[in-house]
Amino acid sequence: MLAATMHLASASTTIRLSLHVLAACVWLGGQIVVAGLLPTVRSFGADAPRKVAQAFGRLSWPAFWVLVLTGFWNYAAVHGNTMSSSWNTAFGIKMLCVVVAGVGTFMHTKATTPRARGIYAGLGTLATMLALILGVALAG
Ligand code: HEM
Repeated sequence: MLAATMHLASASTTIRLSLHVLAACVWLGGQIVVAGLLPTVRSFGADAPRKVAQAFGRLSWPAFWVLVLTGFWNYAAVHGNTMSSSWNTAFGIKMLCVVVAGVGTFMHTKATTPRARGIYAGLGTLATMLALILGVALAG
């Protein structure tokens, strides 16, 4: 029976994936929650959205770098270089998404018009969502 062959992940796999997923929760979940709270935050004053965005950045950028570090740990732990070519293609697309997510979000923080801010925020969040979905597929 299938259930009899299932086993628990090792301690290091549990730590590695928990850190990766926790950082994804802060980076992506935080973006979605902050975007959802924005109409309420605006009612607190003209500079409230900027202050909240800056405070969120102090949490989200460290989470992004935890994602990158634990991501390389993931690749090494699963011996990505020995995986199938479809796995490595998905990994390559995921890396592209991570770069677009990081650059898009950075450009969002530097944008000077509301339109540019919105476009870069959307691009960063969309690319992160794709990276997350591809990550789940890579974990198999
Ligand atoms: C925006 C950044 C990222 C997000 C949102 C993200 C998200 C995820 C998620 C949700 C998983 C599935 C974990 C699971 O099901 O247990 C995963 C797995 C994985 N991620 Fe990421 N990730 C990101 C960045 C990276 C980076 C930068 C790398 C490599 C340098 C990477 C490499 C991997 C690998 C190899 C796996 C499979 C791990 C395994 O099978 O044990 N990730 N990722």
